Amino acid sequence: MKFFVDTADTAEIAELAATGLLDGVTTNPSLIHKSGRDFLEVVKEICGIVDGPVSAEVVALDHETMMKEAEILRKIADNVTIKVPLTIDGLKTCKALSGEGTMVNVTLCFSANQALLAAKAGASFISPFVGRHDDVGLDGMQLIADIRLIYDNYAFDTEILVASVRHPIHVLESARIGADVMTAPPAVIKALFNHPLTDKGIQGFMADWAKTGQKIG
Ligand code: E4P
Repeated sequence: MKFFVDTADTAEIAELAATGLLDGVTTNPSLIHKSGRDFLEVVKEICGIVDGPVSAEVVALDHETMMKEAEILRKIADNVTIKVPLTIDGLKTCKALSGEGTMVNVTLCFSANQALLAAKAGASFISPFVGRHDDVGLDGMQLIADIRLIYDNYAFDTEILVASVRHPIHVLESARIGADVMTAPPAVIKALFNHPLTDKGIQGFMADWAKTGQKIG
């Protein structure tokens, strides 16, 4: 499963990229607002840090203006992925852009039928929002399982990008189901490294090693 980070904070992106475990980045208008930075400038900087897909979202609601915005965004770098909302105009834009060889991430997906439409529109990625699904009392991970089944039934190439990930269990379940990608905030990705028994084990080994009085090299 590929790991994307869901942030527009370039310092956090650089820190995670240095682990060699980061496969891409997702941003959205709220994350750009949080960064307090110029949208085009921050996308350009992220594309310089990460080689993998970097999602940049259009903000228009009509197809024509979405295409104009996508034209500006995709010129930033080859790894820019155009993010469009799951609406009729969004999917028209997805179909047009994917036909031109541009990667498209269809966002704000909340049903398996929506995911089916996105795949038929040639999306590179579908982003079902599991956390927001859970927030309203629905089962976010069941949505991922349903999309996996449907995409496998028809051998769609669209990658399932689990979004709105809130905690490590979402990551674990995504991997169990066979999602292609998950995108999570930096704090959730960092939490994956931690286990109290790892910390305890290191402390014990360090204490015993100190008693040997030895050094390596
Ligand atoms: C994904 O591309 C979205 O930017 C993101 O995962 C939304 O997460 P949230 O529901 O925590 O805002």
